[in-house]
Amino acid sequence: MCGIVGYIGHREAYPIIIKGLQRLEYRGYDSAGIALYDGTDIKLSKTKGKVSDLKERLENEISTNGTLGIGHTRWATHGVPNDINSHPHYSNSGDLVIIHNGIIENYDALKKELIKRGYTFKSDTDTEVLVNLIEDVKKNENTKLGKAVQIALNQVVGAYAIAVFDKKKPNEIVVAKLGSPLAIGIGDDEFFIASDATPFIEFTKNAIYLEDEQMAIIRRHKEVKVRKIKNDALVDPYVQELQLNLEQIEKGGYEHFMLKEIYEQPQAIRDTFRGRLLSNEALIKLAGIEDNMKKFLAADRIIVVACGTSWHAGLVAEYIFEDLARIPVEVEYASEFRYRNPVITEKDVVIAISQSGETADTLAAIKLAKSKGAFVFGVCNVVGSSIARETDAGAYTHAGPEIGVASTKAFTTQITVLTLIALRLARAKGTISSSEFRHHLIELETIPNKVKEALESDGYVQTIADIYKDAKNFLYLGRGYNFPVALEGALKLKEISYIHAEGYPAAEMKHGPIALIDEHMPVVVIATKKGHYEKVVSNIQEIKSRKGKIIGIVTKGDESVKELADHVIEVPETIECLTPLLTTIPLQLLSYHIAVMLGKNVDQPRNLAKSVTVE
Ligand code: AGP
Ligand code: GLU
Repeated sequence: MCGIVGYIGHREAYPIIIKGLQRLEYRGYDSAGIALYDGTDIKLSKTKGKVSDLKERLENEISTNGTLGIGHTRWATHGVPNDINSHPHYSNSGDLVIIHNGIIENYDALKKELIKRGYTFKSDTDTEVLVNLIEDVKKNENTKLGKAVQIALNQVVGAYAIAVFDKKKPNEIVVAKLGSPLAIGIGDDEFFIASDATPFIEFTKNAIYLEDEQMAIIRRHKEVKVRKIKNDALVDPYVQELQLNLEQIEKGGYEHFMLKEIYEQPQAIRDTFRGRLLSNEALIKLAGIEDNMKKFLAADRIIVVACGTSWHAGLVAEYIFEDLARIPVEVEYASEFRYRNPVITEKDVVIAISQSGETADTLAAIKLAKSKGAFVFGVCNVVGSSIARETDAGAYTHAGPEIGVASTKAFTTQITVLTLIALRLARAKGTISSSEFRHHLIELETIPNKVKEALESDGYVQTIADIYKDAKNFLYLGRGYNFPVALEGALKLKEISYIHAEGYPAAEMKHGPIALIDEHMPVVVIATKKGHYEKVVSNIQEIKSRKGKIIGIVTKGDESVKELADHVIEVPETIECLTPLLTTIPLQLLSYHIAVMLGKNVDQPRNLAKSVTVE
């Protein structure tokens, strides 16, 4: 979720904020806006598009003076990218103005209650609900802004980094954090706030990084008071002196965006099932599915159209949908599907998967399917993207911007959404029992922590990368749910290290690829304790007998593969259909480290684009 910037002090706020938003552009966004307090009133300008568009518009629209202000770059989650949905947002009275990164899960219920109390809304965002909730609390409790924010946030479920100020009290800004980053720069009689330190590092190296469920009241010429949102208790904040340079901060301290995004996966998966996976109530809430349940249940088959990594996520979906919901699934390369004159009927449901939402082949496949009467459902990561708008309904991944060309968190969040859909349909069809359904939900909730645990193998994966970085060819093998992961692992290696790699179903080895095996051929074998484990072990024995170098991806505690393989990388145990979310992690890390060791441009590999918007 994108970027927030704020300033209160003795300098003109506008130049600091607009430059701060430019510094945050690297995070990816779709809209931008600024609100300034000019000494008598709030001046606000916002627009869909780039910070440069905002700059041009704002400098013609409003006066830019004032020493208090907030700015925002939006990555839409609720409400398509347009001027009205851009931030900042006013409260109904026009006294309060807010910017927000994150997702207010229970915004709908809160909005309904506020409408009953006479509030009106201009935008479709969850953020505008929050600023009016704060206003409502402030009025009803007759309290100051800080207290109102604290009370309001205790009614909120979701993730946020917010900054809000009251034009009637222009000597303070209130900020709060849960799940999205927020840093406070402590200057000389001036304070900065931002999603990371890039907007203020040139002014001060002293920063407070708010922790989750903390808020702060920042008073001009005075101080920063940090409190716990839960009980308003004062916190003695740790002011750290930043050592990072600008470029390092942009990447969150990671060397590349790709590594940052690999490590963001626990949060990205959590954000993606946030508000949708309700294990206590044994519920899955996906509006796009609920509203079209009849079409899905009546479907003769589901056709998945996608490209690249998204196509691999579609292959995982094939296993999940057929295994759990017993719905026939065909997975098509969009580029092939669009030209092969496929048989499509009104009884078909098409699922289009795309991180960018702009892939030309996938968009064309959607249009073809729609022209033949099929219902098309989208799984995208960019709200308001072409594919999101072209499909009849959809469910977004909430991975946040994926900057690295090699897709990582998009893949795992796509699988997360597709698993939720498959489980919801299986429940509706009665193809799994309520206890199985509940068991899957509870296990899916543990996945973010299990991904975090899988990431702990990073150092060991690095040593393996160093051993095999000069290999000319790799083979990736997997069975069942992990066959698509083998394909994805091979693609990751190819696209960033330029080493040739092939993914294969493990059993296919004997139908040809085994001829490739020798002591120079590293073979990555996904051999988790689920799904035909014994057969994969025998595949490993075949490789070993031909002197192949074996890198096993195994379930934690595995002893059999450890006896056979040259190296084993452990992932936590989980249910079979969720293993792809874990086994892909070491493969992402392996390709990343090999590419870095080979000196490749990891974030922008040669010949590749982040979104292939042409044929
Ligand atoms: C995967 O790492 C590549 N970036 C590429 O294969 C990508 O998955 C493909 O171009 C599809 O992009 P999309 O998900 O944005 O449609
Ligand atoms: N959920 C808010 C919106 O969609 C904030 C999104 C963001 O993090 O930029 O406007």
